Amino acid sequence: MNKLILSVVLSIVLMACQNSTHNKQADSIGQKVEKLLSQMTLEEKIGQMWQVNGGYGHDDNIRQGKIGSILNDVDPQNINRLQKIALEESRLGIPLIIARDVIHGFKTVFPIPLGQAASWNPELVEQGCRIAAQEASSTGIRWTFAPMIDISRDARWGRIAESCGEDPYLTSVLGAAMVKGFQGDSLNSETSIIACAKHMAGYGAAEGGRDYNTTLIPPRELRDVYLPPFKAAVDAGVRTFMAAFNDIDGVPATGNEFLFRQVLRNEWHFDGFVVSDWASPWEMINHGFVADEKEAALRAIKAGVNMEMATSTYNDNIKVLIEEGLLDIKIIDQAVRDVLRVKFEMGLFDNPYVAEENQYQFAKPKYLEAAKLAATQSMVLLKNDKNTLPLSLSKKIALIGPMANQAYEQLGTWIFDGDSTLTVTPLKGLQDVFGKDKVMFAEGMAISRTRHQKGYRKAIEQAKKSDVIVFVGGEESILSGEAHSRANIDLPGVQNDLIKELKKTGKPLVLVVMAGRPLTIGAISEYADAVIYAWHPGTMGGAALADIIAGNANPSGKLPVTFPKEVGQIPMHYNHKNTGRPANLDTWTQMYDIPVKAPQTSLGNESHYIDAGFEPLYPFGYGLSYTSFVYSDISLDKEIYAKDDIIAASIKVKNTGEMAGDEIVQLYVRDLVGNVSRPVKELKAFKRISLNEGEETTLTLTLDVNDLAFTNVAMERVVEPGQFELWIGGDSNATLSTFFSVK
Ligand code: GLC
Repeated sequence: MNKLILSVVLSIVLMACQNSTHNKQADSIGQKVEKLLSQMTLEEKIGQMWQVNGGYGHDDNIRQGKIGSILNDVDPQNINRLQKIALEESRLGIPLIIARDVIHGFKTVFPIPLGQAASWNPELVEQGCRIAAQEASSTGIRWTFAPMIDISRDARWGRIAESCGEDPYLTSVLGAAMVKGFQGDSLNSETSIIACAKHMAGYGAAEGGRDYNTTLIPPRELRDVYLPPFKAAVDAGVRTFMAAFNDIDGVPATGNEFLFRQVLRNEWHFDGFVVSDWASPWEMINHGFVADEKEAALRAIKAGVNMEMATSTYNDNIKVLIEEGLLDIKIIDQAVRDVLRVKFEMGLFDNPYVAEENQYQFAKPKYLEAAKLAATQSMVLLKNDKNTLPLSLSKKIALIGPMANQAYEQLGTWIFDGDSTLTVTPLKGLQDVFGKDKVMFAEGMAISRTRHQKGYRKAIEQAKKSDVIVFVGGEESILSGEAHSRANIDLPGVQNDLIKELKKTGKPLVLVVMAGRPLTIGAISEYADAVIYAWHPGTMGGAALADIIAGNANPSGKLPVTFPKEVGQIPMHYNHKNTGRPANLDTWTQMYDIPVKAPQTSLGNESHYIDAGFEPLYPFGYGLSYTSFVYSDISLDKEIYAKDDIIAASIKVKNTGEMAGDEIVQLYVRDLVGNVSRPVKELKAFKRISLNEGEETTLTLTLDVNDLAFTNVAMERVVEPGQFELWIGGDSNATLSTFFSVK
């Protein structure tokens, strides 16, 4: 007993020491910040609020202390040269913070974030970001503009590629993992790059999925859908935020005091700093929200944007705004205080340079292995009729398609520094696994947008000589990402037509899609015996794909976003409201099956499309395996819970197939009655399990009753007493459920 007491006492003492160390560090940084701030001129303060693009042409401004940050320089020698000017030639020697978009890898490219999200594996996602930080920091980068944690419900929007998909909980868990991966265990480590939660807020709600478009987000939905991932980033210790380009109901995010003063500072007590998006203060002129650059600077600073990216409204106008009494110097001091605090936390004053021996740490074997595992776990098996997959190594494969051997295109969007010479394409991957003599390659189309048939003949010839066709299609990387929204999200070019021609050979056909968004592949999937969604899988995508096709890896990916049948169904997401007239299959008649002169009310008055129904092509959370899993015996530890209880939900899962595999077990909840209508399902927990063939396990998923909170009609965050339904299953169409109450 004494030992137990002693260990408890020791741990309390240890925690107290750690806290006091942390507090002492914060106090000492606070003192350093105040001391430095007191020495700064107004020009030098304004300098800390300006981020300029590129590492050349700014020497004099750096020397005068008029620049606080540089983005888009990745040359460690030049970065060290600039830091030397800032440290040794400026009056106060305040170091620069060097930034870059390191979104899903630096030289070693991981799957696009939407693909990584399909792994539902926060540990793997964190590891990928850690590796990206190690590569990026070896060139002098110490700040990345990631994670992008905008909830994205619209596949037309090109930037869905950078997101973690449509669900607030999954995005919160993965966004927090990314923050930890980028920042590492200590901000002042030379491999730590500070993260940036972006784009606050609501960017993914752009009307029509058209990038930069206006958003009309009800305050309650802003609170319950779009803001939670940003709060999770704060809780994970993120040190910067980025303001979004879009407006929210007429107020541009960059000038939105509610977001950055009320929510971020007053409610969440965030003490890092906020950077604008590229020129977003200036763009408030285009919004018609401000009249000129001077007002743009005023509104952005008052909203709480500490630093301006790329444009110079702050540099050009703050001094005048102060002199005219339109801006209080206290606001400037606070803006600069936040920036200096982060720079001190990063140890930039003590270690501003990239040591020679630490430079160019790229593409280590362990990095490539991690990228391959991430790609493997991100790929989603959507269809596998007659167990077409996996293929035996004896099969002769006709590898066809515009993405089958595109080293650059499979890396995806936002890979400024990706090294496509490292890429393992599907061609290389399949040759490595099946042997060069087993893989007959004919691209059939030079690029994903090819609109002629010149390559058909050779492709069809190869197909006829093969045992199985593997068609790798999808989108080139430029077709998703920023400013690249699409109104039609079919496979581009003549891909659908070529697939149909290939299928006429009568061979089994495996369709592999590399894309930056869900595509409307329902019709063309009818011509495929198996479908693998590979997203843009990054450097090792081909090696991962080959392992999956050969059965060396059992696919485990689950969709982080709903796949619509038709683009016209968008917006379509699993956590939708029930409406007063929920659709059901009993009353829906496909448009072409409707009798001629059908009476007006004969079709059922429910919420559906007469031509596309109301169900998606594939639901959120969906993904097949080469084996099968059966769920049974759902149970809860109680029937009635109090507000601070933890709900323990147990389930039996059995691998009923003939291959070991991973399953991502998902737990959804529905608040049956609220004082505002509530979603029909909400993801509240998930867990990856591994089961050998025939193996059964009982696992328990937990959630805090407080996780059931929502914003009520009075805009208060509450957990309301009442009845709830709880499902556990392998996707958001889970049917195995039970009920509980909160008193
Ligand atoms: C872009 C993007 C933002 C990015 C920034 C810097 O326009 O909106 O996500 O981090 O500019 O490249």
